[in-house]
Amino acid sequence: CGIVGYIGDKKATPILINGLKKLEYRGYDSAGVATFDSNCINVIKCKGRLAALETKLTEDMPSANMGIGHTRWATHGEPNDVNSHPHISQSGRFAVVHNGIIENYIKLKDFLQTQGFEFKSETDTEVVAHLIEYHYKGDLIQAVIECVNDIEGSYALGVICSDCETQFVAARKDSPLIVGLGKNENFIASDIPAILEYTRDIYILEDKEIVSLTKDEVKVFNILGAEVKKEVYHVTWDATSAEKSGYEHFMMKEMFEEPKVIKDTLSPRIVDEGITLDNVNITAKDLENIDKIYIVACGTAYHAGVVGKYIIEKLARIPVEIDIASEFRYRDPLISDRNLVIIISQSGETLDTLVALKESKKRGAKTLSIVNVVGSSISRESDYVLYTWAGPEIAVASTKAYNTQLAALYLVAFNFAYKKGYIEDSAYKNYISQLKELPSKVEEVLKNKEVIQKFASKHYNAKSIFFIGRGLDYALSMEGSLKLKEISYIHSEAYAGGELKHGTIALIEKGTLVVCPVTQDDLIDKMVSNIREVKARGAVVMAITQEKNASIDKVADVVITIPDIDSLLAPVAAVTPLQLFAYYMAIEKGCDVDKPRNLAKSVTVE
Ligand code: G6P
Repeated sequence: CGIVGYIGDKKATPILINGLKKLEYRGYDSAGVATFDSNCINVIKCKGRLAALETKLTEDMPSANMGIGHTRWATHGEPNDVNSHPHISQSGRFAVVHNGIIENYIKLKDFLQTQGFEFKSETDTEVVAHLIEYHYKGDLIQAVIECVNDIEGSYALGVICSDCETQFVAARKDSPLIVGLGKNENFIASDIPAILEYTRDIYILEDKEIVSLTKDEVKVFNILGAEVKKEVYHVTWDATSAEKSGYEHFMMKEMFEEPKVIKDTLSPRIVDEGITLDNVNITAKDLENIDKIYIVACGTAYHAGVVGKYIIEKLARIPVEIDIASEFRYRDPLISDRNLVIIISQSGETLDTLVALKESKKRGAKTLSIVNVVGSSISRESDYVLYTWAGPEIAVASTKAYNTQLAALYLVAFNFAYKKGYIEDSAYKNYISQLKELPSKVEEVLKNKEVIQKFASKHYNAKSIFFIGRGLDYALSMEGSLKLKEISYIHSEAYAGGELKHGTIALIEKGTLVVCPVTQDDLIDKMVSNIREVKARGAVVMAITQEKNASIDKVADVVITIPDIDSLLAPVAAVTPLQLFAYYMAIEKGCDVDKPRNLAKSVTVE
């Protein structure tokens, strides 16, 4: 979910709507705003996309100078008008927007019901509105502090009260929230792009901080009510990075940014023909004491991690275990101070990943996070951070962030391998010069987009598509399959080529579409056999391979070529055709590629 809040001289509603538009990637099941108008709180909300709310608001535009807004990704309660935020308290004096999950809401609800509070929705958030009213004795900050003391779970909250025309309050724990500092106006938002049009100066809130905002002043308090001094963070990136800039979709724009962002991620770390990892101070001696590395992430970041496992093990010869964050955190993992845990996350806010990180720290491991959003919860909690410089990624399906996650993992793998003495100077230099060529290779791949578009236009009616690869191509297949599912809703599975004969091949019949990345030199013959096996059962095969292997078209129906590139580095360039394939399949099917159904970009709930 995304939240936004405004207080100032201007009319609040258009600013809230504008902010919510930038946050819609966080959820779009329903939306709503609460404003303070002539001594009472006015809530307008409805099921569906923000556009539905906008239509409702044009009929009845509140003129208030203070308000809070919300765009929802449903967790508790189906997406309908009643369950939409903001939620108001029993008397209507308080309105609340919330991102996160109140874990003890049933207990609190039972208690509040005994106190005479009646619930209208099925949400956990309504508890917060009533609870604030229960605690309120004339001081909104105090009531919010008492409320957050009672609740367990995660929250970013915005609260307005009909007694306070000139102030609203916000708080956070384990869900992102920033404060925008303006002139005669102040803001809150789940993410920077929501307010970047108005200010570049922000406070990044810490867990359990509570903020009071008036139009001229922002005060931050800790849970004990003591004021906290905050540092102003000045945003330097451009607002246009969060605009479509002429592309039809954010996803397409973001794929076309891949060459630049790979370069931005690599080049500051390639210094004097060597690799530096910013402030990641892991020495050769430290590496000697690391018995095992865990890589933990979700979704696309997890798939980047699978590549990370292969390359770190291959180059640095350290055993690497790769884990899905939601599994890792509950499986009592065997972690000690002899482990390094690498956390990968675009948003830096995925709750399962964040908790996995905290758990690893608790068990004594060192933590290194590969994160895109500066100042995000994961980046702040980690011992070391290596930022991916992908810039804001707005399309729900991750593209450019994945390429930069791979770039960061290569830096780590080469750096560790060199420190451990497993690669010599000449090989190290050779890898580094190949890393530098990655942006131009991806640029070449993007030029081929029409071939993929044409293929998609013929096959978009496919009911089920298989991705088959070996080694790094298997890792890549998982990401290609996920991308396709996410945005085109076509069922798809990724399999290791060698597993085909152990079951999957039973599903191949005449016309079944099979996508095969074939970029690993030592596995090409094996993959050619796999392609022959599925072709013999009637499959239609699209292969992706380096130009030097173009003769694979003797077995595959269509071959998408990428420039010649070392097998180890191939996933960075070979993922782009898979992303383009998913994109064009979704477009052909008429799907909303930037906002696929049921998904949210940043999942700050379990
Ligand atoms: C969500 C998104 C995915 C993303 C995953 C992990 O499910 O829809 O695209 O890969 O979260 O997100 P993170 O921000 O931690 O990389």
